[in-house]
Amino acid sequence: MVARLKQIACGLIGWIDARFPMTKWWNEHLAQYYAPKNFNFWYFFGSLALLVLVNQILTGIFLTMNYKPSEADAFASVEYIMRDVSWGWLVRYMHSVGASLFFVVIYLHMFRGLIYGSYKNPRELLWLFGMVIYLLLMAEAFMGYLLPWGQMSFWGAQVIINLFGAIPFGIGDALTVWIRGDFAVGDPTLNRFFALHVAAIPLLLVALVFFHIIALHEVGSNNPDGIEIKKNKGPDGIPLDGIPFHPYYTVKDIFGTGMFLILFALIVFFAPEMTGKFLEPDNFVAADAMVTPEHIAPLWYFAPFYAILRAVPDKLMGVMAMGGAIGVMFLLPWLDRSKVRSIRYRGPLTKIAVTLFVISFLVLGALGTMPAGDVETWIARICSVIYFGFFLLMPIYTSIENTLPEPDRVTMK
Ligand code: HEM
Repeated sequence: MVARLKQIACGLIGWIDARFPMTKWWNEHLAQYYAPKNFNFWYFFGSLALLVLVNQILTGIFLTMNYKPSEADAFASVEYIMRDVSWGWLVRYMHSVGASLFFVVIYLHMFRGLIYGSYKNPRELLWLFGMVIYLLLMAEAFMGYLLPWGQMSFWGAQVIINLFGAIPFGIGDALTVWIRGDFAVGDPTLNRFFALHVAAIPLLLVALVFFHIIALHEVGSNNPDGIEIKKNKGPDGIPLDGIPFHPYYTVKDIFGTGMFLILFALIVFFAPEMTGKFLEPDNFVAADAMVTPEHIAPLWYFAPFYAILRAVPDKLMGVMAMGGAIGVMFLLPWLDRSKVRSIRYRGPLTKIAVTLFVISFLVLGALGTMPAGDVETWIARICSVIYFGFFLLMPIYTSIENTLPEPDRVTMK
C-alpha cells in the first residue's frame, strides 16, 4: 500500500516536473541552497517577516469581507466585525497586532543587516529591495490606519498629508488636495486608501519580497562572521561552511516560528491594544472633523521619524529631515568603507557609533509618541544629530579605524 502510494507520488512529481520546474526550484532554493552553518538568533527574522506577511494578507482578506470603506459606515463596520462577526475580534486583533509585530520583526531584521554588514558588496541590491519593501510597509501601515475611521485615523492622516503642503510654489497645496481627493480628509481619501491598502501595495510588496529573495539566493547569504563561504569550496563544489537550507534551517525556522507564535498569541489574547501602543485609545472614538484630539501621536513604529520632524523648527526643513532620515538608509552600502563586514571584527569607533545610533533611535521613538515640550524638543534635536551623524560620518570612521583580522572559516561561537 505504502509502496503504491510512493509510486503514485513519484509519478505525479515526475509529471509536474516535465511541465513545471518544481523539483528544480525546490533544490535551487531549499534542498541545495547552501547557507552558512553559523546562522544565529538574528537569522530568524527573515522567515518571520514572511510569516507575518502571510498573516496580514490572510487576515486582511477576511476583514475585507465585512469592512465598509465609506465615511458613513467604516467605523460601525469595524465595531460590527469586533462584536457580531464570528471570530471577527480574533481576525481583527491578529491583523492589528500583526501590523505592529511586522515592524518589530523588520526593525530586528534590518538591525541584523546593519551589524553584520549584510548590505555590503555584493548585497547592495538586496538591501535596496529591502529598503523599498520598508517604504511600502510604512505606506501600507499608514493607509491601513485610516480605515477604522477613528479619531486617530482621521487626524493622523490629516497631519501627515498636510506635511506635503510644506512644499513651496503652490505645489504642496495642490499635492495635498490631489492625495486626499478633496479639501479635507474624507470619503474619497478613505476609498483610495482602501484600494491601495488591500490591493496595490500588497501586490507590490509580494513582488518585491520575491525579488528580495531571488537577489539573496543569487549572491548567497551573509553570516555573523561576514565572510564569503563561497571562497572555501570542497572538491564537490559545495562551500565547506555551507549546509543545505532544507532540512537544517527549515527546522531552525520552525522553532523560531513556534516561539514567535507563542508571543503573538499572548499579545493577541491578553494585550491586543498593548496599553494603547498597538491601538490608540482615541481610535475607539469615531472620527469627528470638528473635534481635534488633545494629543495627535503616530503609532510607535513611525515615532522616531515623527520626533525628527518635530525637532526641526521650520516645517519644510522638518519634512526634509524626516524624509532624509529614511532616505539616508538607502545609501548605507556606499557610506560604509570598512574592510570587514561584521561588527565582530570592526574597531571601537563603529561599535560606539552603532550603540549611540541605537540609543538615539529608541529615544526618538519614545519622544515621538509624547507631547513635545522644550526639554523633549532639545533631546530630540540631540538624538537627530546623532542619528544623522551615524550615517554621514560613516565614510570617515569606518575607513580610519583598525579592524581585526577576519577568520578564513566561519566560527561557531
Ligand atoms: C516583508 C519584508 C521582508 C521579508 C519577508 C524579508 C525576507 C527575507 C528573508 C527570508 C531573508 C533570508 C533569511 C534571513 O537572512 O533572515 C532575508 C535576508 C535579508 N534581508 Fe530581508 N525581508 C524583508 C524586509 C527587509 C528589509 C526592510 C531589509 C532592509 C532594508 C532587508 C534586508 C535583508 C538583508 C540585507 C538580507 C541578507 C542578510 C544576510 O544574508 O545576512 N529585508 N530577507
